Amino acid sequence: MAAEALAARDKIGVQDFVLLEDFRSLDAFGENLKKRFNEKLIYTYIGPVLVSVNPYRDLKLYTTELCSEYRAVEFFKLPPHVFAIADTAYFAMRSDRRDQCILVSGESGAGKTEATKQILKYLAVVSENSREVGKIKDQLLQSNPLLEAFGNATTTRNDNSSRFGKYMDVQFDFHGAPVGGHILNYLLEKSRVVQQSLGERNFHIFYQVLDSGDAALLQRLSLTGKVDDYRYVASTANHKERSETVFTIKDKEQYKETMDALRVLAFSTKHIEEIFNIVGAILHLGNVDLSGSESGVVIDNADKAELVGKLLGSSGAQFKSAMLNKTILVSGDKVASPLNLEEAVYSRDAMSKAIYERLFSWLVCHVNRTLEVKRSDTAVIGLLDIYGFEVFQVNGFEQFCINYCNEKLQQIFIELTLKLEQEEYSKEGIEWEQIDYFNNKIILDLIEDKSKGIVSFLDEECTRPGTVTDASFLDKMVSGIGAHDHFVCFELADREAKKTIERDEFRLVHYAGDVTYNVKGFIEKNNDLLFRDIKEAMQSSSNSILCEIFPKAEVLDKKRPLTAGTQFKNSLNKLADILKSKVPSYVRCVKPNNKKSPVIFDDELVHHQVKYLGLMENLRVRRAGFAYRRDYNYFYQRYKCLCTETWPSYKAGTPAQACQIIADKMGWNSTDFKVGKTKVFIRNPKQLYEIEDKLAHRKVELATLLQAQTRKVLARKHFMRVRAAVTIFSKNWKRLVARRLRQRRRNAADEIIKFIKGFIMRNQPPNEFNKQFVRIVRHQWLVHCLKPALPKDVLDKSWPECPLVCQEASAQLRALHQRKLVRHYVRSLTAERKQQLTWKLTCRDTFKDKKSVYSSTVPTPFSQSRIEDALTQRVHDVVGKTATDGPSDIVYATHVVKYDRHGYKPRPRILAATASSVLLMDPKNMAVKEQHSPSNIKSLTVTSLSDGFVMIGFNALGKGDKGDLLLSSEHVIELATLLASSSCNNMDVVTFASDEFNHSLPANKQGTVRVKSGAPVSILKEGNALVVTGE
Ligand SMILES: Nc1ncnc2c1ncn2[C@@H]1O[C@H](COP(=O)(O)OP(=O)(O)O)[C@@H](O)[C@H]1O
Ligand SMILES: [Mg+2]
Repeated sequence: MAAEALAARDKIGVQDFVLLEDFRSLDAFGENLKKRFNEKLIYTYIGPVLVSVNPYRDLKLYTTELCSEYRAVEFFKLPPHVFAIADTAYFAMRSDRRDQCILVSGESGAGKTEATKQILKYLAVVSENSREVGKIKDQLLQSNPLLEAFGNATTTRNDNSSRFGKYMDVQFDFHGAPVGGHILNYLLEKSRVVQQSLGERNFHIFYQVLDSGDAALLQRLSLTGKVDDYRYVASTANHKERSETVFTIKDKEQYKETMDALRVLAFSTKHIEEIFNIVGAILHLGNVDLSGSESGVVIDNADKAELVGKLLGSSGAQFKSAMLNKTILVSGDKVASPLNLEEAVYSRDAMSKAIYERLFSWLVCHVNRTLEVKRSDTAVIGLLDIYGFEVFQVNGFEQFCINYCNEKLQQIFIELTLKLEQEEYSKEGIEWEQIDYFNNKIILDLIEDKSKGIVSFLDEECTRPGTVTDASFLDKMVSGIGAHDHFVCFELADREAKKTIERDEFRLVHYAGDVTYNVKGFIEKNNDLLFRDIKEAMQSSSNSILCEIFPKAEVLDKKRPLTAGTQFKNSLNKLADILKSKVPSYVRCVKPNNKKSPVIFDDELVHHQVKYLGLMENLRVRRAGFAYRRDYNYFYQRYKCLCTETWPSYKAGTPAQACQIIADKMGWNSTDFKVGKTKVFIRNPKQLYEIEDKLAHRKVELATLLQAQTRKVLARKHFMRVRAAVTIFSKNWKRLVARRLRQRRRNAADEIIKFIKGFIMRNQPPNEFNKQFVRIVRHQWLVHCLKPALPKDVLDKSWPECPLVCQEASAQLRALHQRKLVRHYVRSLTAERKQQLTWKLTCRDTFKDKKSVYSSTVPTPFSQSRIEDALTQRVHDVVGKTATDGPSDIVYATHVVKYDRHGYKPRPRILAATASSVLLMDPKNMAVKEQHSPSNIKSLTVTSLSDGFVMIGFNALGKGDKGDLLLSSEHVIELATLLASSSCNNMDVVTFASDEFNHSLPANKQGTVRVKSGAPVSILKEGNALVVTGE
């Protein structure tokens, strides 16, 4: 069973009855079927046997997709299905090349034919395909509608009930492709041709012809097309109004299907015509009225009889005679005698039944000829669709045969199953234990024993001379086998049993239950008498089919034909041989209710069938050994997580040992659990449930664990991937960096070498080695050496050292830079400053190194006015009035001391000079004491010492000449410079005296000024002279 199914066992019963704890209880069995049926689960296993409950609705269970799903999948891996059975048989056939058979059994309407069809369909779908094979597949599939048309009928139980048993071999070539087939048919219920129970129908073909709408056909057969016009089919023609169930047969459509099938199966037009002639003839035959008169039996409607004769290809006279007479052989001579009415009616109906039965067999033969394959390398899968156990209110000869057939199949089943079971145990090296089960051989012997069997009693009775009746047959049985445990009759029954059985009945205790048979009709049906006249008439027919099915040999054969019972027995024995030579699989069909309802589950009905089918026997046989067996690898893999020793894997030994460890852990002893050569065997389902529960519990734990592990593994994988990527990336990056570094180093080395070479050759004329170096040196010097060290100030005369190669450039740059600084400096000078500097320059040229106070005056700027602010305005006023220039033209104004020319008396005076005049004023009253023209100044004499003396010498003017002016000033250099440069416009007037000199006095007289070096600085009269002392 599939693991999922095990898990779901509580919800929908068990998927395999072997796991049913209460396996001896019919109720439990039925309950499980019911639970599953209600959930639309129609299939359940008993080990390898499939139990199928008719769903009476389309559950979409047979799609081509599903076929593919089941293809080559291990039997227990998927939920139970008829495809799984077909698949197992097909693949076993292919791999072992051993013939297989699938036995489908069950009550009428339980779904046998449907199951067989699905198996056939499955084989067609999954097997190899080619054009040739396609044709065969088609023919195999089409044999169904054909045989159904002629062999199926509507019964109270099934609208499409097969009224014959069928065994079909499908032959496969080495590649598994179907190449042919063969059908065996069993015991057609021919009585149906002339009579049906209430609510039932004759074989479908009659209705198909009548309802075909094929006017030509109806006309040829002289049929009206109305069911009610024909006695054989009209008797229960009200079948369509049967209340409780839905009638599903559509005759018109199925007629077309039958015609298609005939064509596909290669029936010639002539044969098709002949077949329908026979069908038509039978319909008419039912309407041939017979009545008794004094002169014997007469045919009331002779034209009907003639029509029948014509349709059957027989001459009217011969046919009519055959209907009314019987010819028997007496001591080798033919003696004809007319039939009485009863005999004639019997003969008419016997003829209908015989013709129909033989036609059916002929159809099967023809199909076989079409499907025949003349090669010996085929393997077959046989499909047996045969009637199941039947129990009616009144059971007759047919039921006896059918139930006998089921006893036989049960026996085959037991033999084969036990054999297989036994084979498996011995193959697996497991000790075989005696299985306690009911062997129905005892019943089978009761029926078919050569001398003491019911069939042989019946035959004896049929062939015995004298008066033979059904009652005499019963008596024979009572005296022969009355004491048998499985035979019950009124005569020998105890009081209790007598209440349930009539005098003309006997009861057999079948393996599937008791069935009471009424002996009425046993002798007649067993004899199955058909008068020679009819056989002869048919033999001479122009209808080739009739000639074939009533062979001359039979007519000529003087031996008594085999009885129906013996024929059936023989065919069953043959079937048994066929089945026993094959590997069997079983489908057991169960019908949920008698109303064809998809929702009713009739417990009683199902229990009944479960008994009939011997399903409890099935189960017991299966359970007698070990309930569960499975390849130990599977077992180990499934349950290894239950033991620490075997989880996550068992390395210390084989899987078989691992299985044993798991079993020990479960506490199973050696009786409950066995390890075979390839499988483990578990005795009780309970054990399986235990281990499954443990597994379910463990799974939850493992799921968490696995989840964590999986996450870990995934994370690790991711990490490894990232790490690998990073490694590759960093390796490449490092390589790249290293390459770059190496290149840089190489470049650097080249540069350095170049540099060194350049250095060595630096003073040589430019060449390829020193070119670079020189450029670098220049650049270095210019950018790093010269640029930061450039003088910022015009007075800064510094200039960085320069290499040899830059000397020329250095000199030029230095000059340029100097010029630039000068230009900048000059541009930045104000007019005052410029004037100041001009004065200072003039001053320097005149006084530097010539007068000792010069250097101390350099820092002090010259000022054009040394007059305090209070006097400035007044001086301006005086100059404005006196001089020709305005006050703004004052070149210089300062306080001076004037020494009188006579006596050298010092007097304070203010000197103010313009370009046109030089004024001396008294600071007290601002009176102009003297006024001179600058152009008249001849000289400005100063000493070389640090005194403030200055003498302004004038050109002699003659009359009015006052003589030279003797002054002293604190700013003597400033006075001399401004007066000379601005007023006189001539610096050359400045002269230096270092010793003694004269100054002019009025009237051409002269005074003396003596210059004396020493301290303190003074200007004093000494004698006649003025003595100037300075350092
Ligand atoms: N598996 C199935 N799925 C659907 N309907 C089914 C199935 N088996 C049987 N039937 C219905 O039940 C009817 C009787 O089945 P059939 O196979 O003819 O029974 P049997 O051959 O056992 O007498 C079919 O005509 C069909 O309508
Ligand atoms: Mg059937």
